[in-house]
Amino acid sequence: MKYHTVIEKLSQELVREDQLELLLRERAIRLAADLLRQGELVAFPTETVYGLGADATRSEAVAQIFLAKGRPQDNPLIVHIAREEQLKQIIAGPLPPLAEKLIKTFWPGPLTIIVNKNEAIPPVITAGLDSVAVRMPAHPVARALITAAGIPLAAPSANLSGTPSPTLATHVWTDLQGRIPLIIDGGPARIGIESTVVDLRAQTPLILRPGGLSRERLEAVLGIELEVAAEITAEEEKPLSPGMKYRHYSPATPLLLNNFDRAEQLAEISEQYRDKRIALVVTAETARWLEHLANNFKVVVMGSRSSPAGIAANLFAILRELDHLKLDKIIVEMIPETGIGMAVMNRLHRASKVE
Ligand code: TXA
Ligand code: MG
Repeated sequence: MKYHTVIEKLSQELVREDQLELLLRERAIRLAADLLRQGELVAFPTETVYGLGADATRSEAVAQIFLAKGRPQDNPLIVHIAREEQLKQIIAGPLPPLAEKLIKTFWPGPLTIIVNKNEAIPPVITAGLDSVAVRMPAHPVARALITAAGIPLAAPSANLSGTPSPTLATHVWTDLQGRIPLIIDGGPARIGIESTVVDLRAQTPLILRPGGLSRERLEAVLGIELEVAAEITAEEEKPLSPGMKYRHYSPATPLLLNNFDRAEQLAEISEQYRDKRIALVVTAETARWLEHLANNFKVVVMGSRSSPAGIAANLFAILRELDHLKLDKIIVEMIPETGIGMAVMNRLHRASKVE
């Protein structure tokens, strides 16, 4: 079906002050909750990236998500809840002890846990797996929406499959206008990179996707070292996290990584891409020495090396903006894989892969 897509903007004050009661009375939230209960899709802000929600208890509603995004059917979705009681509707058996610990510390927030699912969860959500991904987002609008709708929401990032995740309502509009009835604009996503996905079913928990919650913080709470799932290739039969086998987070412009640790690299790049239109996406520290040498390039500062969180918050928006310029190449500076830097580098490695 072709939709006339509406964007409903919420006051930033309500969002900042986390006024759940007031938010529940907002027209945009009531409209969105009605649509969701009718089996329609709604895009909404979370603290990580914008999500595209559907009633997680209805297969036909969830199936629309795959159509709207052009998402492969074998890539399962995260179920979003607003209260811990909602877990009962989703998981089979009691929570693993480690899950309890993580939930207590990090929910609501950018943590997604993989646990055993119960029969109420339709197979279309989990791509037929017997596990399910669950997350309780911290964003007041996401919480108000799930509460108002009274149902758990299946929600992937609200982008077309393969493009960088949306961190602004306008990014959703670019990708999904005409395909969904409503986008709730709650301002920029604070974290800017997707949640950390942790599989808690085995003895040792496994990070399936690095994200907005750092490995270091998880390890500090669990008191053990965590494994991070190796990159899964499309050839492998049984990917641990099915989403990881797809090229992802990619601007249409080819993307390359560089560590910019020597001035000569700039000369090499200039030589190699003579007469080409190139953007260099670098840290403020690198921009300081590079900018006056790089006047034939467009230089974009993504943040400071001392704040990988700042870089995470800017990254997807920068990649989307540069895409509009139809350049020949985007060259991005690599950053240390500590803290949220691990998630940033994970996304950049994927975006730089050629199919
Ligand atoms: O921050 C986020 O996680 C955002 C916001 C909207 O909540 N959502 C998001 O969803 O990034 P999506 O669909 O773009 O990514 C979900 C990831 C995929 O890599 C998928 O393969 C993995 O979670 N996943 C979902 N269910 C799984 C399962 N049962 N077992 C293993 N991996 C699973
Ligand atoms: Mg996604």
